[in-house]
Amino acid sequence: MMSDKGKILITGVAGFIGSNLAARLLAEGYEVSGIDNLAFGLRENVPDGVDFHCLDIREKEVIPFFRDVDTVFHLAAKNCIADCQADPVETAEINVSGTVNVFEASRRAGVRKVVYAESSALYEGSSVYPTPEWELKPESFYAVSKLASLYFAQAYGKFYGLRFTALRYFCVYGPVQDYRRTIPPVMSAFMIKLLKGEQPIIYGTGEKRRDFVYVDDVNDFHLICIRDDRTNGKTFNIGSAENYSVLEILDKISRILGVNPDPIHKDDLPGEAQVTLADITQAESLDWKPKTPLDVGLQKSIDYIRQEIRAGRIP
Ligand SMILES: NC(=O)c1ccc[n+]([C@@H]2O[C@H](COP(=O)([O-])OP(=O)(O)OC[C@H]3O[C@@H](n4cnc5c(N)ncnc54)[C@H](O)[C@@H]3O)[C@@H](O)[C@H]2O)c1
Repeated sequence: MMSDKGKILITGVAGFIGSNLAARLLAEGYEVSGIDNLAFGLRENVPDGVDFHCLDIREKEVIPFFRDVDTVFHLAAKNCIADCQADPVETAEINVSGTVNVFEASRRAGVRKVVYAESSALYEGSSVYPTPEWELKPESFYAVSKLASLYFAQAYGKFYGLRFTALRYFCVYGPVQDYRRTIPPVMSAFMIKLLKGEQPIIYGTGEKRRDFVYVDDVNDFHLICIRDDRTNGKTFNIGSAENYSVLEILDKISRILGVNPDPIHKDDLPGEAQVTLADITQAESLDWKPKTPLDVGLQKSIDYIRQEIRAGRIP
């Protein structure tokens, strides 16, 4: 579909945030293309109307797919912290070399702007809460790979004039969240177990606190990144500025489902922060606000997981 709003390319379009973003951009009237090697994402996640290409971001042949593109959202990554800890080499290949390849293809093809995903994992070693953007203390291989992306983006900006915006997502949640990972994101993991009448697993004490932000709210900021030049060359925390413990989340999901949970406790996972809490002053200064109440976001996420179970996609 031709659109006078400009063409948007999403890497990682078959994943959680990428597929939600694609649906939102199509609804807003953008022409959307997407690439994904389907390593973690699913073809059926990609909304109808997206010009989809099954490709690896590390391939040198990606450049033609960046031609005539106005804005690239670079979301493809190896992003389960446990998987990244187990394979630092592949983490660097995908998250560092793959990202540099995306920046290079964008500059060669004359893309106007690249918006790319970092992570609150960059604050793993910090105990400043809420955490502002300059409080960089990455520890895990995943976090270090995301920090490398920032330095490459800055160098591309300085030496090649590449316009970019870095988005430091906190725990994004909502429908299509990838629950197939080695260790699924905590909300999906609890929903699956409780809906199936099984015992949820808590790693560690359950006191870890996370800043959760609903995917539609994240998409509101994505749209600002396309339109507002004040985002150029900057990094933004994208969270809700509220956090909940793992036990509180289990309690909230259980109440919505009307069940009494009996969790299994396992050893804590390596490489994970104890607390995340975003300082979102910078994003709010651009008239953005996370709007979705936790209970509403949880209900929509539960509806999605329930539908996946009914369809037999979650054994
Ligand atoms: N979801 C979150 O809470 C969260 C938090 C912080 C940062 N992030 C970052 O946001 C981005 C999107 O996250 P998500 O939750 O949608 O993840 P996701 O795993 O659902 O999606 C990532 C997609 O990238 C694809 N991909 C991986 N390697 C690829 C490669 N070499 N070539 C092409 N495609 C490849 C996967 O197949 C997958 O579809 C990632 O960069 C992630 O690190 C996400």
